[in-house]
Amino acid sequence: MRIRWVVGAVLAAAVIGGGPETPPVEAQCAGGYDVKAGSNFAPCPPAPKLSLYKRLGGREGIAGVVDDFVANMVADPRVNGRFKSMPPPAVFKLKSNLSDQICEASGGPCSYVGRDMRATHTGMQVTEAEWSATVENLVKALDKRKVDAPSKQELLGMLGSMKRDIVGH
Ligand code: HEM
Repeated sequence: MRIRWVVGAVLAAAVIGGGPETPPVEAQCAGGYDVKAGSNFAPCPPAPKLSLYKRLGGREGIAGVVDDFVANMVADPRVNGRFKSMPPPAVFKLKSNLSDQICEASGGPCSYVGRDMRATHTGMQVTEAEWSATVENLVKALDKRKVDAPSKQELLGMLGSMKRDIVGH
């Protein structure tokens, strides 16, 4: 009888809140003015930034951007001469390579296994005008998919560093 009473009391204390409790998240880092201390207390640190890969929508988001980008290239008379003799399987492979390349460069779990940019574009004599048209077509695809401005800049910066291997060889 006595033992049952003791067990009951211990359980009741635990349920009612005898032990230390973790305050709710919003109370832990709401930030503001502490009246007792007479000073401000810091708000939560900002949430860690998502990788560019995640901000582009992962594999699916990137595949969507690449689809729109290649469609823009094929419809653009400034550059489409380069692609008109490509059979559909080659276009499919190009899209898959571009997706892997962007996925890997943006921090995603992919590996680009295509040829390096210098080897791929050597002999094509890609011009500055074609480069600009290509960037425009990519921006159009990113805008259509509502990729935010900082992410867009980040991706364009990464691809921009490849220009020296692509143009003029
Ligand atoms: C940021 C810019 C660019 C990137 C990231 C890029 C990337 C690539 C990739 C990954 C491939 C496939 C490589 C492989 O099959 O192993 C490729 C192929 C190709 N690229 Fe680019 N490229 C860019 C700009 C350009 C430009 C400006 C042109 C010309 C207007 C161009 C024309 C081509 C063509 C015609 C192929 C097919 C080559 C073939 O299959 O023999 N690219 N590119």
